[in-house]
Amino acid sequence: MAPPSAAPVALVTGGSRGIGRGICLELARNGYAVAVNYAGNEAAAQETERLLQALSAPVATLRCQADVGNSADRDRLVDEVLARWGRIDVLVNNAGITSPGRRDILEAEADGWDQVMAVNLKGPFFLTQRVAQEMLRLHGQGLPANGKQAIVNISSLSAYAPATNRGDYCISKAGLRMLTQLWALRLADHGIRVYEVCPGVIDTDMTAAAKEKYTPLIEAGLSPIRRWGTAEDVGKAVAALVSGTFPFSTGDVINVDGGFHIRKFPVT
Ligand SMILES: NC(=O)c1ccc[n+]([C@@H]2O[C@H](COP(=O)([O-])OP(=O)(O)OC[C@H]3O[C@@H](n4cnc5c(N)ncnc54)[C@H](OP(=O)(O)O)[C@@H]3O)[C@@H](O)[C@H]2O)c1
Repeated sequence: MAPPSAAPVALVTGGSRGIGRGICLELARNGYAVAVNYAGNEAAAQETERLLQALSAPVATLRCQADVGNSADRDRLVDEVLARWGRIDVLVNNAGITSPGRRDILEAEADGWDQVMAVNLKGPFFLTQRVAQEMLRLHGQGLPANGKQAIVNISSLSAYAPATNRGDYCISKAGLRMLTQLWALRLADHGIRVYEVCPGVIDTDMTAAAKEKYTPLIEAGLSPIRRWGTAEDVGKAVAALVSGTFPFSTGDVINVDGGFHIRKFPVT
């Protein structure tokens, strides 16, 4: 393990594309060295690194391939970050997959369920466990001095708005909500804050196939703020949460959804 780096370190799962890339960029703008995890798209991860190094104040970066749904990969991922920097201050559990085939729940298959749960729920749980252990170990070395250790989980409006063609995805994101509360409770005494960021409809590869379907809905008021969300919108929320601006808050949900979550009375 390397001696702890002077700069704080953030590990962002699924940092190669979409929302994860937006999070990497905002954390880098806030001075974090960034570990960019990805599953298989190395070219995209390289592009994220290039963008981080092209910032007006470039940060140190590390590209780490690892399937967060795989136990050995998760351990290797954390080991690689510690071997480079000796510390992890922020973990963002962002990597996620949609429901394979988006089958109606009457037709959904167990294989797809297992895949979604492994990446979207089991991965974040056990990665949080491992990273929290490492964060606590750092306390023994008097680090970090700034008390800004945090874990952020990227959920979805699917955590509370059911869609019957992606039950596994919805349940994984609802589970992430409880995961956030469990770890917020467990780590509060140690000064480690845990948050959920709940995006609405965000313009990324994940939503590309549904773009034509969503655009008119957004224009018609699907969210009170009538535009697509961006990866930058989500990145800014994550950066604000981990900045220490909310020192008496943990376990909270921040919606980044243009107001989608507001329930409207159907008749006025
Ligand atoms: N887009 C939306 O509207 C929206 C809304 C609400 C919530 N979300 C959530 O936000 C997160 C990011 O979504 P996105 O739209 O940015 O998705 P995306 O464009 O499909 O990107 C997915 C990212 O996750 C990585 N990834 C996928 N499986 C992985 C695995 N097993 N291990 C490690 N990394 C893995 C991908 O790596 P590779 O590049 O190597 O494939 C990529 O970096 C997800 O958790 C998603 O559920 C998205």
